[in-house]
Amino acid sequence: MENLQERTPLHIAFIMDGNGRWAKRQGKPRTYGHYVGLYKLEDVVRWCSLRGVKYATFYAFSTENWKRPPEEVNFILGLLVEKISEFYERMAKEKVRLRFIGRISELPEIVRNKCIEYEEKTKEYTNIQVIVALNYGGRAEIVDAIKKAIERGVKPEDINEQTFRNYLYAPDIPDPDLIVRTSGEMRLSNFLTWQGAYSELYFSELFWPDFSEEELDKAIETYRRRERRFGGING
Ligand code: FPP
Repeated sequence: MENLQERTPLHIAFIMDGNGRWAKRQGKPRTYGHYVGLYKLEDVVRWCSLRGVKYATFYAFSTENWKRPPEEVNFILGLLVEKISEFYERMAKEKVRLRFIGRISELPEIVRNKCIEYEEKTKEYTNIQVIVALNYGGRAEIVDAIKKAIERGVKPEDINEQTFRNYLYAPDIPDPDLIVRTSGEMRLSNFLTWQGAYSELYFSELFWPDFSEEELDKAIETYRRRERRFGGING
């Protein structure tokens, strides 16, 4: 029988929530929370890598986030443009492969180009894959997948749950074993709608900038303790 104590999630996905509230609490602008949040993302990648996690996905910007004030939108996208090279320099020794999922083609050119450039630069790295969901929506991904299948002339009888996966943004990435959301909100907010069907969920009370190595271990421990039945019965 599989030793549940030893099982490390292969793929953890994070909903980095609470940046704005964290910053406001300290009398700082919301954008400061995103700034600190980006450094937290980097820490979390390192902690995941140390624990043998092979895929870490981060919800950085959703299709709904365009409703935020333009200054905040520009700040988040600008963070990526300005900080990605530093991130790359620091993460190169960890052999981090960077990937992006979402409606990347609709992003401003400068952002899009950075995404393409750094996917290309890191594509040979295999230690851990970091997937950044940018202009991402789970429903949008399903709609885009359907469009892609139709454009390629796929016949209805050839569509099933396995073949449908081929039309998602990153078909080769295994479904997340565990989805962690910070800041006490208990929703998935249109994140990995297809891929998260069987994921274990862990809701942390901490705001994303306060997320810690101990809290990550708590999430992994909770994951290990739960029985995953996939709709069947174990034993
Ligand atoms: C949710 O907190 C967080 C976001 C919408 C942005 C997350 C972005 C980062 C951590 C920066 C990383 C950026 C890139 C491009 C990799 P919230 O603002 O909804 O917080 P609140 O619920 O307290 O208002």
